[in-house]
Amino acid sequence: MLNKKMVLIGGGNMGKSLLRGILNAGLTPAGNLTVVDVHAGKLDALHKDYGVPVARDPRSVVAGAELVILAVKPMTLNEVLDSIREVVRPEQLFISIIAGVESSYIRDRLGKGNPVVRAMPNIAATVDAAASAIAACPPATEDHLALAEAIFAAVGEVVRVEEEHLDAVTGLSGSGPAYIYMVIEALCDGGVKVGLPRDVAMRLATQTVFGAAKLVKETGQHPAALKDQVTTPGGTTIAAVHELEERGLRAMLISAVVTATERSRDLNTIARRK
Ligand SMILES: NC(=O)c1ccc[n+]([C@@H]2O[C@H](COP(=O)([O-])OP(=O)(O)OC[C@H]3O[C@@H](n4cnc5c(N)ncnc54)[C@H](OP(=O)(O)O)[C@@H]3O)[C@@H](O)[C@H]2O)c1
Repeated sequence: MLNKKMVLIGGGNMGKSLLRGILNAGLTPAGNLTVVDVHAGKLDALHKDYGVPVARDPRSVVAGAELVILAVKPMTLNEVLDSIREVVRPEQLFISIIAGVESSYIRDRLGKGNPVVRAMPNIAATVDAAASAIAACPPATEDHLALAEAIFAAVGEVVRVEEEHLDAVTGLSGSGPAYIYMVIEALCDGGVKVGLPRDVAMRLATQTVFGAAKLVKETGQHPAALKDQVTTPGGTTIAAVHELEERGLRAMLISAVVTATERSRDLNTIARRK
């Protein structure tokens, strides 16, 4: 148990997932985790469901925190940082999940030299299956990174990267769920085309993607080796693999990651110019 006094600013989709993960993993007691949001209704629900203290004004609670998690939308960030600047103490750790905002920007806007860890989780945090990456900005230490790692491990897998790689992380795992949703939908359509009822096709397609990922994860085998194990000479699977190669499935997915990464870099550059 970390047992830190935490404040979570932004009790929306991602904030709520982190809150649930932190409490389920027993990282800190509910009484130590205050949620700040602008919506009284959202706060009431979080208080009722999780027993956490809540506040509408971050200034009233940030002063007493050891760790502040920023989970608001990018356009709200400046307002939040400016409102808490006066009460922030330099030793407080900030963890930001805000897409496209460099950790040094947060540290510099707060103006007290705080350690900041920036994270890029993905939407699967809502079911504790996120793929997250974290990066630290000076003066964050190993202890700060380990603390952030424990929090994101509570909602899935977490890896450490250099901050310069967070655009690539956005292109791969941040945007990746959408690519896989398209794969599931297309597999389902394929099943329907060859005569399966849609609900049956959807269940089979979803479980096939889930099971294949689970096998890669649990065996640690290379996906190419697992693919070779299921392709009988002259059989059905190798015929389909040939079709996928001819139509460029792998090149298409590689291009998708590259394009999303470039777009993330462009958006960050535009944001920096503002
Ligand atoms: N969703 C994802 O898959 C994903 C993945 C990685 C990173 N992220 C990042 O996570 C952050 C949060 O995303 P989300 O999807 O959880 O957004 P969200 O559901 O809109 O949550 C943000 C919450 O903060 C509230 N808020 C607005 N202004 C505030 C203020 N001044 N003080 C406190 N709370 C305030 C919002 O209220 P209103 O509804 O009134 O605005 C909302 O309840 C974003 O910066 C995003 O880049 C998201």
